[in-house]
This record gives sequence, C-alpha cells and structure tokens, in this order.
Amino acid sequence: MSIATPPAPIFDKGLANTIVAETQMSFIDGGKGVLEYVGIDIDSLARKSTFEECVYLLWNRKLPTTPELNSFTESLRAHYALPPGMTDLIRSIPRDATPMHALRTLISALSLFDPEADAEGEEPNARKALRMLAQTPALIAGFDRYRKGKSIVEPDPTLSMASNFLWMLNGAVPTAAVARALDVCLILHADHGLNASTFAARVTMSTLSDLYSAIVTAIGTLKGPLHGGANEEVMVMLKEIGSLDRVEDYVMERLARKDRIMGFGHRVYKAFDPRATYLKTFARQVSADTGNLALYEMSRRIEDIMAREVAAKGIYPNVDFYSATTYHSIGIDLDLFTCMFAMSRIAGWAGHCLEQLEGNRLIRPGAAYIGPHAQPYIDIANR
Ligand code: CMC
Repeated sequence: MSIATPPAPIFDKGLANTIVAETQMSFIDGGKGVLEYVGIDIDSLARKSTFEECVYLLWNRKLPTTPELNSFTESLRAHYALPPGMTDLIRSIPRDATPMHALRTLISALSLFDPEADAEGEEPNARKALRMLAQTPALIAGFDRYRKGKSIVEPDPTLSMASNFLWMLNGAVPTAAVARALDVCLILHADHGLNASTFAARVTMSTLSDLYSAIVTAIGTLKGPLHGGANEEVMVMLKEIGSLDRVEDYVMERLARKDRIMGFGHRVYKAFDPRATYLKTFARQVSADTGNLALYEMSRRIEDIMAREVAAKGIYPNVDFYSATTYHSIGIDLDLFTCMFAMSRIAGWAGHCLEQLEGNRLIRPGAAYIGPHAQPYIDIANR
C-alpha cells in the first residue's frame, strides 16, 4: 500500500492568503467594503437591529421571530448576575491593573464556578457561551467601580445588554440615545470572519480544550494594538494631538517617521471598512448630542489627511477609528474601550468555537526552520 505524498506546504507570512476554516456567520468582501452577518448587510443591522437580535442571528443563522427573540433575551438576562464568589475575586485584583488584564483573568475565573466548564457537546457549549456573554458586562463594570472605590452595582434583568452595562458602570440608567450608541457599537463588533482573536479561539478549540480557555485565548489576542487595542490607541492619539490646528503637523510627522496612524488600515478591507462608514455618521451625531464635537472634528481632519497621503495604499479608517470617539462621547473611560470590543466579540468567538467543533480538525500549521543543522553537542564545561 502506498501512502500519498502530502502537497508541499506554502510559506504564507501572516496567513494573509490562507483559509483555515469555514463559517456561516460573517462574510467580508474587503475590495467592495462589504460585511454581512448571515447574509444581512451590516448597515441594515446597525440601523434596525439590536445586539441581542444579532447574537441570535449569528448563533442560529437566522433572524428570530418575536417569541424566539423574547425567549433568547430572557435567558440572557437570567444570567446577568455573577456567580457568588466572583465579586470577592474582583475585589482581589490590584486596583491599578489594566482592565483587559483584569477581564482576561476574570473570564478565566468564571470557569472555576461553572460545573459545566469541561462539559462537551453542543448544548453545554451553547449554555456556556450564553452565560459568558451575559456575565462579561458585570465583570467589566464591577472591576471599574471597584478600582474607583465605588460599590459594585447589581445587574438589572429588565434592561438590555447595553443599558444594563451602563447601569452597572454608572449606577444610573442611561438615556435611550446613549444606550443605543453602545448597542450599535456592540452590533458592529460582534463578528468579523477569521480575525486574529477569532483564529486564536478556534486554534484553542481545535485542541478540544474548553470554551472558557478558547475565549481567554481570544481576549489575550484582541488586546494587542494591531487588533482590538487600536481603539484605545486612537483615543491616546486624539488626546496627544489636543486641538484641530495641531492635526496636520502631528499626522505628517508620524507618517514621515513611518509610524502608523492607529484606527487606519486593515488586513482585509482595502476599501472603506463598512463599520467605519456607519460609525462615522453615527459618531458625529453622538458627539454633537453630548457636546464632544471637538474630538470628532479632529478625527475628520485626520481622515482627510490620510486620504490625501496614503489612500492610494488602500488605507482607510477601520472600525476602531470612530468607535473611539463614540465611546468617549458616551462617557466610557479610555482604558475600557478594548473591553467594550471584547464584550461584543464574545458572540463571534463563541459562535466560531461551536462551528469549529462541528467538523473539527486540529489547527496546526508548520514553521520554516531557519536555524543550523548537524551541530555538535558541547559539554557545558567547554562552552
Ligand atoms: N498608518 C500608516 N500606514 C499604514 C497603516 C497605518 N495605520 N496601516 C498600514 N500602513 C501601511 C504600512 O506601513 C505598509 O506600507 P508599505 O507598503 O509602504 O510598507 C502598508 O500600509 C501595508 O501595511 P501592512 O502592515 O503590510 O498591512 P497588514 O495587512 O499587515 O496590517 C493592520 C493591517 C491593521 C495591522 C495595519 O493596517 C495597522 O497596523 N493599522 C493600525 C492598527 C489598527 O488600527 N488596527 C485595528 C484593525 S481593525 C479592528 C480589528 O480587527 O482589530
């Protein structure tokens, strides 16, 4: 019996030209600037849908009927509260810890309180996904209040995910406009093909590890400034610039040094990121409503300069660019921005992990070895 020779592996740095998974959740056409969740364009979803409905869509691959949406929302709200013991854990984290480090640690700790943490199969995994999605807002808001010396606010199961988060963060129910602004950001961040953190989650899941471990892997990956951490860097940049008249010099100096302008460029979109298209208009409205137009105007100026200087390279604003202004306008602290991304993307990560298990094969690419061969082993005394 002869064994077929496997095809020669291809070296694809950054895996830009490699497809390693199939998904039915989101579709991206980077050339045309299209993003769809289960075939529905992101613009329609951002205008008409809610985060809860989008999660149902991604996880069930169809829009819910009213009873289906009500029942899904009810189960989500039933799990808003943290398991006993988690609040003590929040209080044991150093107050000056970075929120993304705190979130990664706390999501990992959730598994310690979940009797189903290692349970396999579609149903236990779907239950774990629902609980993690429902409880993440309480982890973020709880840590933020604790670090500021404020009392932790219990969730309100009568509120939507976005409103409940803002309630737990501020101890006050948000206005409908502010809650809607966060809801829209959550919709826009829920899933995005095989981005770096989703890939990382699928790699962990492909080893048949558990869903908590996969989500923890994803959070660590999201944190980087080339990925989800970019929204915080955008805000840092806007603060550094400080005023509209300094934008031109700042951007030109950075480009001359070959430094990146955060919130611009994308591995997949070589036209406008459709999430940024929507957020640009939305951010203007939210900024005007909340009296924060100065930041928005600086952002617009940066965009104009980038269009003049680098659009020929296919570099346009990405989702992180205008989400920074939006989060700031609704009163979210800069160092919580990436946590907002994670709070939403758990939907995508969990959905991808379940898809991975549907037809699992261990994800294990190769590396081209470029070191020496046939070296002598020299005894330690003679080195
Ligand atoms: N500012 C200035 N130049 C840029 C930028 C930028 N933000 N992004 C890419 N370029 C240039 C880069 O210098 C290179 O130029 P050249 O060919 O002359 O050397 C060219 O564009 C191609 O860049 P690349 O690094 O090969 O592109 P990539 O596909 O590997 O990187 C990216 C994609 C997102 C990492 C990159 O665009 C970047 O670093 N952007 C800033 C960070 C950022 O905003 N990240 C959020 C991404 S969207 C949200 C998410 O999914 O997390």
